[in-house]
Amino acid sequence: MCGITGYIGENKTTDILIDGLRRLEYRGYDSCGIAAVGPKSSLYLKRVTGRVDALDKLVAEEPLKGAGAGIGHTRWATHGAPSEDNAHPHTDCSGRLVVVHNGIIENYLELKEKLPGHKFKSETDTEVIAHLLEQHLKGLHVQEKAVRSDMLEPVFFEAFRRTLAELKGSFAISAVWANCPGMLLAARMHSPLVVGLGRNENFIASDVSAFLKYTKKVVFLNDGEMAAVRKDGVDYYNFHGRKTAKDPVTIQWDSTMAEKGGYRHFMLKEIHEQAEAVENTLRGRLLPLGGDILKAEMGLSAEAIKGFTGLQFIACGTAFHACLVGRGLFENFGVPAYADVASEFADRAKLMPKGTLVVAISQSGETADTLFAMREAKTAGAKVLCITNTVGSTLTRESDYVLYTHCGPEIGVASTKAFLGQLAAIYLLAGHFAAARGRLGTADARRYAEDLLRVPRLIEETLAKEKEIARVAESFAASEHFLFISRHLNYPIALEGALKIKEISYVHAEGYAAGEMKHGPIAIIYKGMPLLAVATSGRTLELMAGNVEEAKARGADVVAIVDAESRKTVKASRYITLPSAPELFTPMLTVLPLQLFAYYVALAKKCDIDKPRNLAKSVTVR
Ligand code: G6P
Repeated sequence: MCGITGYIGENKTTDILIDGLRRLEYRGYDSCGIAAVGPKSSLYLKRVTGRVDALDKLVAEEPLKGAGAGIGHTRWATHGAPSEDNAHPHTDCSGRLVVVHNGIIENYLELKEKLPGHKFKSETDTEVIAHLLEQHLKGLHVQEKAVRSDMLEPVFFEAFRRTLAELKGSFAISAVWANCPGMLLAARMHSPLVVGLGRNENFIASDVSAFLKYTKKVVFLNDGEMAAVRKDGVDYYNFHGRKTAKDPVTIQWDSTMAEKGGYRHFMLKEIHEQAEAVENTLRGRLLPLGGDILKAEMGLSAEAIKGFTGLQFIACGTAFHACLVGRGLFENFGVPAYADVASEFADRAKLMPKGTLVVAISQSGETADTLFAMREAKTAGAKVLCITNTVGSTLTRESDYVLYTHCGPEIGVASTKAFLGQLAAIYLLAGHFAAARGRLGTADARRYAEDLLRVPRLIEETLAKEKEIARVAESFAASEHFLFISRHLNYPIALEGALKIKEISYVHAEGYAAGEMKHGPIAIIYKGMPLLAVATSGRTLELMAGNVEEAKARGADVVAIVDAESRKTVKASRYITLPSAPELFTPMLTVLPLQLFAYYVALAKKCDIDKPRNLAKSVTVR
């Protein structure tokens, strides 16, 4: 996830771009930059690592004189470390053509091969767009011989259109060409892009918060649409170059609301971004299962996968719960797996069986305990694979293999979409391991991949139950104690449900393996105590139904997280019914109502949801 912005008009271009980037920083903040057409068709370009404040300072030292077409970008790295070279905007060889991009160009390596002679200056997937555009411009120039000045805009437009036709993946792109100062181009495919309509000035951005200060009149681009933006008007086209009619709408949000996409809190917005987080993490990495893709991306070959004797997961907090799901999943495929909280791993490191692959999971890639444990594992001679959301983080620099989740920045302190991204990465990894080690034959591997690819849609269906879940949560707003129980792959989800509500509502909550209830915890149940039981269909359903009975008999007010089939077996006071899914994949759905439940309890308790007391997003001390 990154933020892009663009401006064309008579006001101070750089100020407007920088102001827009500041509002888009929640989409990424590891580097940023702006470019604009300067006086006499020169190109002004400034980029920095770090935040928009640093860019602002740089621009103030060497300001752009005048106003022109300009674009800006704030980056959340996916390909290439956070560095000035990898910061957007990216230029072609001439340095006169600039591009910003949010998304992932899946076929960038293939495209790069088709561009011999071009000088690439970054490790990003985006730069290929600038060079491809340059190549198409060259081709069109040759065909048109000397391009008349009145033909520059149509030529730029056509080159841009041809470039789009070659891109695979997700993108919101904007481009400016110094030879063509009167027009900026923008296009969208699977990444958000919106046009803002002003008087004698127009804007583009990843979301409306970037320009709401200047205009509330906006046009939302759909996938497969592009816009030619001039200061006195905007034309819209499909990718075939055919004009389309678009109606502007008037936005009622203020800019703080807009950053949150209209949601009250980042946490809620991020809960709703989870289908996308899973989709982005799986994109282009699933087929064929068996190691080929992991080899290309991480250097982890099928041979290496076969050689590992087992897995040891390490992490903290929510990421540790992802580890526990991972443990169950790998065990399901016959691979011995262990999971430990990173802060309790030290002695285990020396005792790991030879050939263990250590999997360290961390959203930030900077959690001190996880880094320490990873180093202990390396000292003990193990290979380390990390799963992280943060390109260039310490964890990635010190691990042998890196598997990125592509969730975009997570702002809410209580982790939600990063957890789903971690689960998606674990399922991806498990599928590749199982196929490489012969635990999934061709047909089963295909079914596994298909089931996994269906998860984002099931996530959306589950989140559609939000109102119902909110009502249940609100009815418990006065409760001070909560229990969460489940079994097997969903046992870690019970732990995560309890952690979520503790983090943001400051109530006492416990997650238990349901079978453990009778060994102590059942004693704390009192009449009316809320107990959330995850009891979806599968091999532990009968046992779960029994545990629900036991809890009810002691007075618990049981909310069962079920599917249509398991609902017939579980006798609870209330139900939240999820869409049916293969048992193996249920953790990616069952956690969703628990996140929403925690959110709505916290909301009813008027807690500071995005910044809960005593907690930090990234804990860099041990
Ligand atoms: C902190 C956060 C948690 C997070 C944990 C691990 O405690 O508040 O939400 O799960 O750190 O963070 P990591 O960045 O390593 O995933």
